[in-house]
Order: sequence, then structure tokens, then C-alpha cells
Amino acid sequence: MLIKGGTVVTAEGTLEADVVVEGEKIAALIARGAATIGSAYETIDATDMYVIPGGIDAHTHMEMPFGGTFSVDTFETGTKAAAWGGTTTIIDFAVQAKGTSLLAALDKWHEKADGNCAIDYGFHMIVSDVNDGTLKEMDACIAAGISSFKMFMAYPGVFYSTDGEILRAMQQASRTGATIMMHAENGIAIDELVAQAVAAGRTDPVQHGLTRPPELEGEATSRAITLAKVADCPLYIVHLSASHALTAVAAARDAGQNVFAETCPQYLYLSLDDLARPDFEGAKFVASPPLRTPDHAAALWRGLRTNDLAVVSTDHCPFCFKEQKERGRGHVSKIPNGIPGVEHRMDLLHQGVVAGEITLERWVETCSTTPARMFGLYPRKGVIAPGADADIVIYDPVATQTISVATHHMNVDYSAYEGMPITGKVAMTISRGQVVVADGEFTGSAGHGAFLARDLNQYLV
Ligand code: URP
Ligand code: ZN
Ligand code: ZN
Repeated sequence: MLIKGGTVVTAEGTLEADVVVEGEKIAALIARGAATIGSAYETIDATDMYVIPGGIDAHTHMEMPFGGTFSVDTFETGTKAAAWGGTTTIIDFAVQAKGTSLLAALDKWHEKADGNCAIDYGFHMIVSDVNDGTLKEMDACIAAGISSFKMFMAYPGVFYSTDGEILRAMQQASRTGATIMMHAENGIAIDELVAQAVAAGRTDPVQHGLTRPPELEGEATSRAITLAKVADCPLYIVHLSASHALTAVAAARDAGQNVFAETCPQYLYLSLDDLARPDFEGAKFVASPPLRTPDHAAALWRGLRTNDLAVVSTDHCPFCFKEQKERGRGHVSKIPNGIPGVEHRMDLLHQGVVAGEITLERWVETCSTTPARMFGLYPRKGVIAPGADADIVIYDPVATQTISVATHHMNVDYSAYEGMPITGKVAMTISRGQVVVADGEFTGSAGHGAFLARDLNQYLV
């Protein structure tokens, strides 16, 4: 395959070059006009288009048991939707339920995903039950290609771990080089605020935001950073939403600590006002941490520019409004937590380029190259270079579209970005040399996606 006439965009810069793909790999980049290539190659015209490495969404939840129900995208529907939006790799979270083992959870997630994904996939492991057995199993997980472990300072009684448990897991991670990913919100204090709100009869969706103030994200983030410093382990703060948390991350990074963070499009584009929408519509926007006031979004864009926020992931966790979100009518804490978004991350961040918030290179870096390096997939993924997997997106920077439930491919009955106009659109998605989306059609197949055994973090200071 010869991808001809496009502008190759990488984290380092742009290049007027043609890309040669042989089988599943990128074979060469040829400077425009430098050589002719045999007619045996299928030619794809990328004139006036960007040619970028396929997106890597390092935070998704397909078929996740949560809040008494399951997130509604299967690995098949969710990875197809991802491909439509220019994402060619997801890293999903296998979930250790309390009282079960990590390896049993891993087996279960392989059963759900293997043979069903349209694009490549890996797993992180959610550790919710820290004990001697679990700690040993963390090493076995690394051998099985799972090099990052998510823990929770939120959700007491569900996924929550105490500081002591977190410290033990971090010490284990320090011995092997694994990365601890942290959901950093002070769940104990939040539960108290929720109980007070419910007792006072304040149960509408906006209470979700008001009972989870940004200070409690900042506090938990600082505590996680301190624990990671004591244990000497790499720490990655997931779905960072509050400027208070960003300040703590920036200070740790300035001090040379291996602390990293991601944010998500919902924290850049949506706000507490969406949670306050009338007629229970706010439930569509219930996720944790909650949507914040716009001043936080401004700080997050700044963090993306300074690399204190290194990655943009979606935290895609779709629950239908009907019957799932509606379980929480009259009881805010029963609204399943999660927002759909796996299909729109590349487009939404491209809006940041259009608006001058980030550069073109930074778009590629935060959405593809850095996630590859952070989670041990580089240089197989995240780059357009000889030897890399041919995961390539041809992106039309001037096409326009409007995000809507009527046109999206996620298996969920609403869009959090309904009606939002977008400049830019995926023209073609290629996964390991196979065209999976082109000309407004899905041409891939469930089962094409392969499991990615990941290395350790390649982004450490
Ligand atoms: O509300 C959210 N974020 N749901 C998904 C689970 C998590 O904490 O990432
Ligand atoms: Zn979380
Ligand atoms: Zn999540």
C-alpha cells in the first residue's frame, strides 16, 4: 500500500512524505518526489490530508460491571466505534472483584475481548483487593503483558483501597517497575458529603458534582504522590479534572518524580452546567471525578501544553440514559458513573488544534505517541516510522461534521456532545495494514484486533 500526497504528522513535526506499507508494517517513508514506486502497490490518495499514527485510547471500560449494571459497549461495538473515530488501540481495564484473584480477572477479560475486537487492545488491571496473594500476582500479570495497575482512593466498599494497601501495592510495583494508576478522589469524605446531601433531600444529578469538590481531588492526588514517593514507584493519575490536582502533579514533576497524568475530553469541553441540566438530563454527564467549572478546563489545556498532562484518554464508560442512568432518579448516588466518548477523542482534540490550544504535533503526541510510550507499546505503536505497525489514520482537517447520537456508532442512546460542530473528520482508518474504515463505511471485522502484551513504562524520567 502506498499512501501518497499527505502531510505526515508526528509528535516531532510534519513531513511531506509518502508512506509505504507492506503487510502489517510500515516499510518506509519517502520524501515527496524522491523516488517512484512500483505499480504493484495499492495507492491511497491522501492529498490535503494529515497522515497520523492511529490513536491510542489508554482508558476504556467495555462491558464493565459497575453501579449494579454493565457498561453497554461490548468489545466489538466499542472497538468498532473507536475505529470510526481514528483510534486503533484501546487499553481497557480488567477488574479484580473483591475476594477474587487478579489472574482470574485477566482470564475473564480475555474471554470477553479475544476474537471480538476490531482493533488491537491491551489491558490494565484494577486491583481492589490487596493481600499477599494479589501482590504476588502483580508480577505474574506483568509476565502476561499487564504492566499497569489501577487503584482507587474513591468508591469505598467497591474498589476503594486504604493508604496502607496502596502503599503495599506501590512497593510491589517499585520492585518490578510497574506503573500504579490512581483514581484520586477522597472517597471517604465524598461519601459523607453525599449522605448529607441525600439527608437534606438534595438528590438531583448536579449534586454529584457538588458533593465531589475539586479540593478532594487535589488532596487525594497529593496523597497519592506522597505515597508513590515513599514507595519509589511510577504514578499515573487517571482522568484528572481539577486544577488543584494538576498543581500537585506539576510540583511533583518539577521535583523530578515519576508522576504523570491524563485528562479526558469531557473535562475540556463539558462543565458543571451540563450536570445541572433540567429533567434529570444531567445524569448523562455523571462520571467521577465530576465535570468542573470552566476555569478548570482552561488550566487543563495549559497542562496539555506544558506536558504536566501527558495523555488524553476517554474513560469511555457508556451507560444508556433509559433504564441505566434512570436507576438514579431521586437518588444521585445510584446513577451509574460514566460518560461515552471512545469515538470522538481524536476529533475533539483536533478542535483544540483548530482553536489554537495545542499544536498539531501535540495532538498526535497526547493522543497516540505518549500513550504508546507510557504503556509499553512504543515503537510498535504511536509512530509513523519503518518497522512500526501500520496503524494509520488519514484525517481530513477541513471536513465538517456534527456529533450526534443519530450518527455515532457507540452502543449508547445519547451523546454527551450532541449537536457539537466539529472541524475535521477521519477519512480512513488503517489497523495493522488493513483498511477498517473508509469512505463512510466500516470495512474491518470483529476478531481482527490482536491482544497486545505490553512492556513496562518507557516514559520515566
Ligand atoms: O465515572 C467513571 N469514571 N466511570 C468509570 C470508572 C472509573 O472510575 O474510571
Ligand atoms: Zn476512575
Ligand atoms: Zn475509568
